Amino acid sequence: MIDLRSDTVTLPSPAMRQAIAQAELGDDVMAEDPSVNRLEALAAELLGKEAALLVASGTMGNLVSMLSHCRRGAEVIVGDEAHIYHYEAGGVSALGGCVFHPVPTGRFGELAVADLERAVRPAASDIHAAPAGVVCLENTHNRCGGTVLSASYLESVRKLADRFELPVHLDGSRIFNAAVARGCTVAELTRQVDSVQFCLSKGLAAPVGSLVCGRAAFIAQARRYRKMLGGGMRQAGIIAAAGIVALTDMVERLAEDHANARILAHGLAELPGLRLDLETVQTNLVIFRIADERIDETGLVARLAEAGVRIGDLGRGRLRAVTHYGLTRQHIHDAVRIIGAVWQELSG
Ligand SMILES: Cc1ncc(COP(=O)(O)O)c(C=O)c1O
Repeated sequence: MIDLRSDTVTLPSPAMRQAIAQAELGDDVMAEDPSVNRLEALAAELLGKEAALLVASGTMGNLVSMLSHCRRGAEVIVGDEAHIYHYEAGGVSALGGCVFHPVPTGRFGELAVADLERAVRPAASDIHAAPAGVVCLENTHNRCGGTVLSASYLESVRKLADRFELPVHLDGSRIFNAAVARGCTVAELTRQVDSVQFCLSKGLAAPVGSLVCGRAAFIAQARRYRKMLGGGMRQAGIIAAAGIVALTDMVERLAEDHANARILAHGLAELPGLRLDLETVQTNLVIFRIADERIDETGLVARLAEAGVRIGDLGRGRLRAVTHYGLTRQHIHDAVRIIGAVWQELSG
């Protein structure tokens, strides 16, 4: 089976399994797990922030960040295609008492600065409006197809946020993909934001975990919310050990996934009745649409699985294929061939 549904299906590398077996452990709720402490220090250094916090998932990382930035009743200004808005069970509202304020998302995942400015409502001058609490960006952008926000765009959002004294949070679940695609350091893409969450468990192939990075006082607050949410894990060095390998061994190879995604995208773009915006294929995600009435998405996904290829269904005719560790160039060529054959069968 060639599983293109997500980079979260990646399994740990042999080096990770070895590191897990040999990890030095302690009680991380007491900040005494040496492996966790090492991972957090490494993450903070790579992202150019004062401190970092290991959390169970990207969702938890985004949630503790929102809770730490925003008081109840404040607005989380977010793109209308953001993962935080679509796929995180509304935790920011349900648990944090915050209000989502969605703004339009551009083709490459950017939120126009003019739209952000309109969304920022100064509480003091308007008793009807909820006050702005935080601006959230996403890099790379999942529902836009793994597109990358540039350092200069991030700079323009920073300037706006400074004018309104607002914090900026980055959902950087795949920020290492963004940096590899741009040929820059991750720190160059996180300098402009106050906090960032990134995942170890996606393209970096670790089994579990995300890190939140930011100023020391912010991370202290996030640590408290992590405990409140039940995310204080004891001998979490088991997770951290694989995370250290993820950050030291698995970053450069993301370029292979990006090259594979381009090959996949070019192959798919040739199928008649399949719509794919090649300019959005910048990292390891390939999003496409069905524009052939004879093919329905559920049927296509099911038939492909029978034929040995699994892809993700984003709904409303949008499908997603993701390249990742464990998939070779040959797998990608095979996937293009199988998808082409199934496509022809369904449209014939
Ligand atoms: C952009 C983005 N943010 C956040 C998450 C949430 O991560 P997790 O599944 O670890 O909660 C994901 C997961 O796919 C994601 O793609």
